Amino acid sequence: MRSIKQLAQTNGGLASIPTAYNFTPNNIHQPVSDGLFEDSIPTIDFSLLTSGTPEQRSKIVNEIGKACQDWGFFVVINHGVPESLMKVMIETCGEFFKLTEEEKQEHAGKHILDPIFYGTSINGAATQVLFWRDFIKFFVHPKFHCPAKPIGFREISMEYSKRTWEVARELMKGISMSLGLEEGYVEKAMNLDSGLQLVAANLYPPCPQPELAIGLPPHSDHGLLTLLIHNGICGLQVQHKEKWVNVDSNPNAFVVNIGDQMEILSNGKYKSAFHRALVNGTDARISIPILYGPALETVVSPPPELVDNETNPPAFAGMTYREYLEMLQAKINAKTLSHK
Ligand code: SIN
Ligand code: FE2
Repeated sequence: MRSIKQLAQTNGGLASIPTAYNFTPNNIHQPVSDGLFEDSIPTIDFSLLTSGTPEQRSKIVNEIGKACQDWGFFVVINHGVPESLMKVMIETCGEFFKLTEEEKQEHAGKHILDPIFYGTSINGAATQVLFWRDFIKFFVHPKFHCPAKPIGFREISMEYSKRTWEVARELMKGISMSLGLEEGYVEKAMNLDSGLQLVAANLYPPCPQPELAIGLPPHSDHGLLTLLIHNGICGLQVQHKEKWVNVDSNPNAFVVNIGDQMEILSNGKYKSAFHRALVNGTDARISIPILYGPALETVVSPPPELVDNETNPPAFAGMTYREYLEMLQAKINAKTLSHK
């Protein structure tokens, strides 16, 4: 299968998209939020979580809890990860997509747990409607993997994943506390010492008919928490109160969202929100989500404090993260579009 980058450049630039990329039967054009103030996703000042006064810290913990409950999404500012590192990570991922198709195809993947997975759409071989994106995914934890090319990719990815982990870990503490649990709860119960960390880089080339295509269809993320950066081009939308809301974050911030395992752990209190990526006619968009998940053999279920058999019964059957991922893979193989 050809990459979207190659496809978009066919004959010096396509005038229209191939039929398989037409997403409109799946109702891409649900109403977009009118951008009212109350409809913008919450912002969390990370510096107050780590170095604020006890009052500031408890206020931020409440704000995190509210954001997880109402949106499943929030923007994190003042996080301490150097802007220069975020920028070079985006540039280097951009360089990866400029490698030859043969070089990229060395990493062509098939299974959700492949350590390195280059592909197009979600799984080009299995999906019926195709998506306007190329991607490279690689697991950086518990074992570090990363394509060797372009030069410097491994070093930069390693540094980037270390620095973002510091942020994710503090956020997990804040989330634990917001659920009324001890601050190290999520980290310990989910065995994050050997937890999965997955970097994905998405390239959405300019699309000749952006109103018909979609970069990524509505889906939720499968891990506990995702931290995303992008190259300043808009495209991400989150579903909130049955509307799609644009996430127009500053490229120096992290867009953070709760994943399915956190929804399960919180017994449904926190939402793993649906989100999608639109494409546009002029600018290539790059986004880099890094996803933090439990260790593969960890059974994910809510702690007794969050369950009450009468008023708040268990909302999900406990299963290991590996079983959950295998279930997702089976759904992808069965040609379903949603990740849930
Ligand atoms: C994702 O959900 O994995 C990426 C969304 C985006 O491109 O902004
Ligand atoms: Fe996602």
